[in-house]
Amino acid sequence: MAHRIAVIAGDGIGTEVMPEGLRALDAAAKRFDIDLEFTTFEFGNCDYYLEHGKMMPDDWFEQLKDFDALFYGAVGWPDKVPDHISLWGSLLQFRRQFDQYINLRPCKLMPGIKSPLAGREPGDIDFFVVRENTEGEYSSIGGKMFEGTEREIVVQETVMSRTGVDRVLKYAFDLAQTRPRKKLTSATKSNGISITMPYWDERVLEMAKQYPDISVDKFHIDILTANFVLHPDWFDVVVGSNLFGDILSDLGPACTGTIGIAPSANINPEGKFPSLFEPVHGSAPDIAGKGIANPIGQIWSGAMMLEHLGYKEASDAMVAAIEEVLAEGNQSVLTGDIGGKGTTKTLGEAIADTIAK
Ligand code: NAI
Ligand code: MG
Repeated sequence: MAHRIAVIAGDGIGTEVMPEGLRALDAAAKRFDIDLEFTTFEFGNCDYYLEHGKMMPDDWFEQLKDFDALFYGAVGWPDKVPDHISLWGSLLQFRRQFDQYINLRPCKLMPGIKSPLAGREPGDIDFFVVRENTEGEYSSIGGKMFEGTEREIVVQETVMSRTGVDRVLKYAFDLAQTRPRKKLTSATKSNGISITMPYWDERVLEMAKQYPDISVDKFHIDILTANFVLHPDWFDVVVGSNLFGDILSDLGPACTGTIGIAPSANINPEGKFPSLFEPVHGSAPDIAGKGIANPIGQIWSGAMMLEHLGYKEASDAMVAAIEEVLAEGNQSVLTGDIGGKGTTKTLGEAIADTIAK
């Protein structure tokens, strides 16, 4: 049976790295005999907005809900459309309406990539950040009173539901169980945020009872960010609320070098709705149109998509191909952000060729 993938390239370099993501997926599909069927959508970008006054058609949900996955490039072109409109009109709609309550980001130092952390080698940094993606601190409960006066007040409530907390914890524990180190770290701040964060800690303890083979620790978010930088080798699976996870999921990949290679997944684990796979980076207007964007973030996101669809071996082969091409370090193949003189296409083709081997 074919897996139906909706392809939305978006803006800027999203349209340049997407073809390389598809090239790599085609190579993997061929080698591992996987039936992938791609359908391209022309909405979810700023030109669509300029033409239609919205980022997506009103029936986007109906059009996309039966796909097995969404493969996204990057959205945003601030000179044409303000970022909050382009982002809220597309990506954030998917995350919410498709209940993609897991945001997953691997943080892995790859061969040939220089970590901004001194003295770190591939193998030293290899962990996942699991972020709660639908509730927590990013709630719409709150308001303003006495606006524009001396008594002006603003309130925005953190919302943690037992269902919401437990399901992200379960996902993180399950993930830790698939990893050799079987270690889970929880991000908290129960010393300062004295109601919701102790609750989060309580649910972690409760969930841990079902996973006796996982070793669990926790850090307050302030020292945790410091430890990402000082001791990235301590971590295996790190789970956090929406806000803490947001911060950690940018800091983690930053510790592993260029933003051009970092992938991410927004997952609805039950498969009730499609999950979304996209590079961490944005549309990079400063280099768009030059054909020099690093396609690895897009390709690695494709690997995460294959794993989600049940093809772990094919996914591993894609990541191995990325590592092999990086380790070879061929200047005429690699893009400028990782010290080469090549293009989006030379790097994309080299990886696809390696997958095909
Ligand atoms: P950005 O990630 O687009 O660019 C930041 C810097 O990294 C730029 O100097 C860019 O040239 C470089 N860079 C990014 N990806 C690269 C790649 N693949 N290869 C080589 N260099 C790369 O972030 P920025 O500039 O803050 O945002 C630009 C637009 O992208 C905005 O409209 C923003 O809202 C949007 N954005 C969208 C995201 C998404 O679709 N998930 C995520 C982040 C930003
Ligand atoms: Mg972020």
